[in-house]
Amino acid sequence: MTDSTAQEHFTLEIDADNIAWLTFDKADTGTNVLSLDVFAQLDRHLQEIATKRPRGVVILSAKPNGFIAGADITSFTRVTTEQQALDLLNTGQDVFNRLEALPFPTVAMIHGFCLGGGLELALACRYRVTRDDPGTRLGLPEVRLGIHPGWGGSARLVPLIGAIKAMDLILSGRTVDGRSGRRMGFVDLVVPERHLRGAARKLVMEAPPPCRPGFIDRLTNHVLVRPLLAGVLRKQVARRASRLHYPAPYAMIDIWREYANNKPAMLRAEAQSLAQLVTGATAKNLVRVFFLQEHLKSLGKDKTYQSRNVHVIGSGTMGGDIAAWCALRGFHVTLQDQSPDRIAPAIARAHRLFAKKLKKPEQIRAAMDRLMPDHKAQGVEQADVIIEAIFEDAAVKRSLYETIEPRMKASAILATNTSSIPLEELTPALKQPERLVGLHFFNPVSKMMLVEIVNGASTAPEISSQAMTFTRQIDRLPLPVSSTPGFLVNRILMPYLMEAVVLAEEGVPPALIDRAATTFGMPMGPIELGDTVGLDICLHVAEVLAGHFHAEIPANLRQLVADGKLGKKSGQGFYSWKKGKAIKPKPASGNWNLEEITNRLVLRMLNEAVSCLREQVVAEADLLDAGMVFGTGFAPFRGGPLNYIDAAGRDILLRQLRDLHTLRGERFTPDPGWEHLFES
Ligand code: NAI
Repeated sequence: MTDSTAQEHFTLEIDADNIAWLTFDKADTGTNVLSLDVFAQLDRHLQEIATKRPRGVVILSAKPNGFIAGADITSFTRVTTEQQALDLLNTGQDVFNRLEALPFPTVAMIHGFCLGGGLELALACRYRVTRDDPGTRLGLPEVRLGIHPGWGGSARLVPLIGAIKAMDLILSGRTVDGRSGRRMGFVDLVVPERHLRGAARKLVMEAPPPCRPGFIDRLTNHVLVRPLLAGVLRKQVARRASRLHYPAPYAMIDIWREYANNKPAMLRAEAQSLAQLVTGATAKNLVRVFFLQEHLKSLGKDKTYQSRNVHVIGSGTMGGDIAAWCALRGFHVTLQDQSPDRIAPAIARAHRLFAKKLKKPEQIRAAMDRLMPDHKAQGVEQADVIIEAIFEDAAVKRSLYETIEPRMKASAILATNTSSIPLEELTPALKQPERLVGLHFFNPVSKMMLVEIVNGASTAPEISSQAMTFTRQIDRLPLPVSSTPGFLVNRILMPYLMEAVVLAEEGVPPALIDRAATTFGMPMGPIELGDTVGLDICLHVAEVLAGHFHAEIPANLRQLVADGKLGKKSGQGFYSWKKGKAIKPKPASGNWNLEEITNRLVLRMLNEAVSCLREQVVAEADLLDAGMVFGTGFAPFRGGPLNYIDAAGRDILLRQLRDLHTLRGERFTPDPGWEHLFES
């Protein structure tokens, strides 16, 4: 590990009242994070402060975006042995223990991010004062990276606010603002920005009693309560994640149950358990997913590109939700359809979205004001971005483009949300085909982070780059893909869905097929996914891609669609649906081989992933893995399909694929890309 002590990360000032102000401003970066060299300097400053015996010390950040965002994740990626991890953890614990032991008031003065190691540092202070705004976020989100706190986060939070509230924060990884932190009992003061310094000063000068747990909070850590509560917590976690795939939350519960009233033992257990986790496969893959996300974000960073007005054409399932999402993110949006009554349901849906996300009436009103129904298409002339989401019909789309192109601003982007039509079939309608790009959103827009940026043969690079920046501006993740049938995500997903349909046709109970996929780590089984997306849409995409898959479309799918059994939206598909939930009958016991079912589903998906990489649908393997994780929820703890092939062993999987080819036929033909996979 490098130790760049040459660069100063802190400044120390002692004011006229003898208060020490220690300002953290990590060199060469816009965000404060904790690393070995930061700990070394912090320790040096704390020793200096201790000898000067000030009235108190306030730790604050000079970064506009926040206090401390957590550990420098690259410190953990460089760790290869448990001992290295333990050294890093013990170093941090020692410094925080010394901070906690200072014999005068210590205050963490918090604005913006105060996450992971940042909150652990703040918890080692006697007081915490935060800025009063929704952008100030406190939390211990380590479980999202497959780990848990290791610098005393749980050992200090659990006794401070009790196990129920502390475990809620730690096991969910969710963040809260200062007010919630105060209600929960670990924030002392919440004040507007202009009073932050004054409030920190007051805490030092007056040294009031710090936060203390109430009776009930203390009771949650009682030796007789812990076994019961641990059982409840494990059950809650099990609903979201299995111990096999996500060991961190379970390890955290075990540590708390064993050591809740013994801080030194809990600190030791935190570090030992975390050292194991951080060197394990789940954490490595979740950290990989974190960096994949950062990589996608970095693709949309063209600072010179500004956009303000969006015009969406088609106010159906997708267009309506895209328009609402853009308005929610601050854009001025006009929404066009064939008539006002077609637009009205989308506006009502948008209101529900704003009410859920914004809560404050004035903000909801402002968002509604930003979304204008526009059946006369008056917004076209002002729009910086035009998003077309009308029927999936190339001729209809082309004739629409002919009418709007002459009215578009010279600088405007024209984007289509088509899910299957190659851009080359649409550009003949345009005088400037280089302006057309695909912005392929996924349903539901408000939940799915990924947007495929579809580059046709004539799409101009700057239009593609602007489309990626726009995608970031609406807080989505752009994935550049080539304009080939199904693009990336649907193309890889479809063979997996179709194999599930074949299995159902063979008589395997749908709930068992879904269980095979969720046990592998998919967020939802393929049968439930098909029903949720709509079986008519699945059939349509399958038809577009049929040529690729060496496989007939299963007759049961065609039959269900012909019978109007479209899934969730019609109340009946493979499953019956009640109140938005699939009724899954318990699978009758049969002679089903769950492992073979999983292999059939997963190998078809992996085979298509290899095919997409070979055909360069995306430029590199990491982009493919990122697309599948953020576009489908592909088991994040496996780090993406290609990462999984690498970990499980290419040769082993290829052999299984060949066996299935012999046994089950053409659709399992190994793609030629397997032969040269991972050869650089
Ligand atoms: P939809 O049928 O729900 O909505 C289409 C809307 O476009 C209708 O309200 C219709 O009145 C309007 N429209 C049709 N022609 C028009 C015209 N000339 N001018 C103005 N409005 C017109 O369709 P959906 O599902 O929203 O799909 C729209 C596009 O998004 C399609 O290209 C589809 O392939 C794509 N897509 C759909 C996804 C889905 O899950 N539904 C996912 C991703 C992409």
